[in-house]
Amino acid sequence: MTRILGIETSCDETAAAVVEDGRVLLSNVVASQISLHQQYGGVFPEIASRQHILSIDTVIRQALEQADITLDEIDAIAVVHGPGLAGALLVGLNTAKALAYAANKPLLGINHLEAHVYANWLLSPGTPSLLEPWFPLVCLVVSGGHTDLILMEGYHRYQLLGHTIDDAAGEAFDKVARLLGLGYPGGPVIQRTAEGGNPQAFHFPRGQVDNPYDFSFSGLKTAVLRQVQALRRAAGQQVEEHGEKLVDAASAAAQVELPLADLTASFQSAVVDALVSKTAAAAQAYGAQLVLLAGGVAANKLLRMEMTRRMDVEVRFPPISFCTDNAAMVAAAGHYRYIAGLRSGLDLDVDPSLQLVSAEVLA
Ligand code: KG4
Ligand code: ZN
Repeated sequence: MTRILGIETSCDETAAAVVEDGRVLLSNVVASQISLHQQYGGVFPEIASRQHILSIDTVIRQALEQADITLDEIDAIAVVHGPGLAGALLVGLNTAKALAYAANKPLLGINHLEAHVYANWLLSPGTPSLLEPWFPLVCLVVSGGHTDLILMEGYHRYQLLGHTIDDAAGEAFDKVARLLGLGYPGGPVIQRTAEGGNPQAFHFPRGQVDNPYDFSFSGLKTAVLRQVQALRRAAGQQVEEHGEKLVDAASAAAQVELPLADLTASFQSAVVDALVSKTAAAAQAYGAQLVLLAGGVAANKLLRMEMTRRMDVEVRFPPISFCTDNAAMVAAAGHYRYIAGLRSGLDLDVDPSLQLVSAEVLA
């Protein structure tokens, strides 16, 4: 039996968790900074690092207390060291190193994307006997910073099939919410606003790119902006051309009664359509026996529904609390590294643009 302490500080959540055997949750503490960043309409890096410093000790102590375990009884400490914000990552990594050194425990450096994938290994209290995911599988990681299609042919064997060439899917939700004056974070508010809207009211582009598994969402965001400007013009308002400056459109939302339900439903459907069709193509081309969803955008109801409906193989996604950033997924990923004998040195550094590489390559 293993019990791994996971630590995550790559963006705007300070999180620690204890997981048994890579699947059973003993504790999961997340201190979210969302309310601190809301006034900036996105994550403000300096504030994120500072808040991580203020919260990290308490969050780790709570995770150990809730799991009713001491640091001594932990088998290893797993920590995200990239990709993410450098200053934010440093807080988690340095804390993990100090604990590992002081308690003489192995340190396991985890890639944030790898952690998102392993959220699918965690058992939620309602589904205690779910089988471990099987291979080969394709995982779509969709978050505020990433949109990646990953092929896994076994544990620690990753192949990045495609990624976004501009905005991430979650970033597109956040930017479109901002231009419509709906607030931050954009995903949940767009999902709510789209309820009852007509997804065919506006036709937005699906972002064609050369690699069949790559994504592009910046054209879609611009198309929504242009549509808002067109609606303003039709309402007889003067529209100043400020390129793609989204802040101008935010005032547009205030000046004209925009069909927000239809706009958000059409936008959401364009994003989901692009995500589902590329995942389906990849799953088929690589003979995947299972499709996994991960990351904050995997919380999206339409995405979960359409992915399940349009895929030939079984589709799984984590419960919503494991989709957004947390440390349980880090501990889960840590378990599989630990039992494979993989270890990190105390000289491990943060890498804001860390790539996902197979463990054989690292060894
Ligand atoms: O994985 P995550 O918590 O943090 C990153 O690693 O970026 O993802 C956050 C992103 C945000 O962009 C947020 O708008 C999006 O996930 N998100 C959603 C939903 N819930 C969160 N997007 C679409 N629909 C949702 N229900
Ligand atoms: Zn994330």
